[in-house]
Amino acid sequence: MLMSELIIKKRDGGTLTEEEIQFIVEGYTKGEIPDYQMSAFLMAVYFQKMLPIEALHLTLAMTHSGETLDLSGITGVTADKHSTGGVGDKTSLVLVPMLACLGVKMAKMSGRGLGHTGGTLDKLESIPGFCVDIPQERFMEQLEQVGMVIAGQTANLVPADKKMYALRDVTGTVDNIALITSSIMSKKLATGAQTIVLDVKMGKGSFMKTEEDARLLAQSMVKVGNLAGRNTVAVITDMDQPLGNTVGNALEVKEAIATLRGEHNGELLDLCLELGSCILTASGLAAAEEEAKSKLRSTIADGSALQKFAEFVQAQGGDPRVVQDLTLLPEAPVQLDVLAKEAGYIAEMDALEIGKVSLRLGGGRVTKESGIDPSVGVVLLKKIGDVVGEGEAFATVHAANTADAEAAAAQLRDCIFMSAEPVPAKPLVYGIIR
Ligand code: URA
Repeated sequence: MLMSELIIKKRDGGTLTEEEIQFIVEGYTKGEIPDYQMSAFLMAVYFQKMLPIEALHLTLAMTHSGETLDLSGITGVTADKHSTGGVGDKTSLVLVPMLACLGVKMAKMSGRGLGHTGGTLDKLESIPGFCVDIPQERFMEQLEQVGMVIAGQTANLVPADKKMYALRDVTGTVDNIALITSSIMSKKLATGAQTIVLDVKMGKGSFMKTEEDARLLAQSMVKVGNLAGRNTVAVITDMDQPLGNTVGNALEVKEAIATLRGEHNGELLDLCLELGSCILTASGLAAAEEEAKSKLRSTIADGSALQKFAEFVQAQGGDPRVVQDLTLLPEAPVQLDVLAKEAGYIAEMDALEIGKVSLRLGGGRVTKESGIDPSVGVVLLKKIGDVVGEGEAFATVHAANTADAEAAAAQLRDCIFMSAEPVPAKPLVYGIIR
């Protein structure tokens, strides 16, 4: 087989066979196919797209490009949850312990922040001592004993995606449905969980800006997951405004802990109930949505989810006392309220720009190598639909110094758009694809 011929076949709109796709993925992973040919191929896929069957073959070839986790020896139901990336998305920190309390073994390999979106690993590392590098043997032990693990990807899990993602990032080929599907689903399949719930974000702060694109991506990932033999469900959720009230690593951990303590009843908890009920029903642990949600709520009410989170933090080397004492988490030295220029109802909150404000404060990485400041970020005191008086605080900036805080406050004022008329609150869920 010749790579040049396969590039031409895709460029001219042909359908690639399983063998041809395997040849490309294997050849590229081993370094036999150079970056320039892979770039041309990715661009051909970008314009000509792939059929669902090609996306499946691409996903499976990528899944088997390195080692995979075998969870068949784990007792009970195994599940995984994935978000396509958003701003203020701390769902895993709340949902994973809730499900672990209900007997679901949650095996999660998470990522770091990407661009303006936050990463679960960065959030967890704001807990003193917390470790995300877990050797495979310990991963399995912890999964069996604690019922949950949230770790970084091991070096040899889906090496094809590591190379392809880095190349897509610099060749304008990230936002293609088949390429995103194979990138995300190969990692989910390689991690081995039987039930997979995908939180497909839609709106300004996500990779999919329109409902149509989000729906196509959700359908593509669900199809590939189910064809690969996993119970896969996708929930399309809002990312026009940040999720919940905090953006920034330690701030998000504080909000997650407050939610686990039962002190917060907002959209973060609602989203956990939606995603959690999909997992419980898809894996046969609840007969219907209401039963699932009531089981999930009981883990907050009886304190077991908070206790599970503490157990998980301890198992991964962190200080479990954070669940009682939030002052053990990093705290930014400067906190500045951001005041509304005019009175009215909040009509829009630009999640993308708010994500970038947190990034510039030091909450995300500007280059691959740069470190992050876990303490900085933004607390949103108001959300879309809320009424704000002139001069009233709608957010608080947490910054390393006064100059950063003032710059962030000015940027935040430009992220909020007001209306004189009442504005309905945004729906959280736009659809469920099973
Ligand atoms: N997240 C991934 O892991 N891969 C993509 O292609 C996009 C988002």
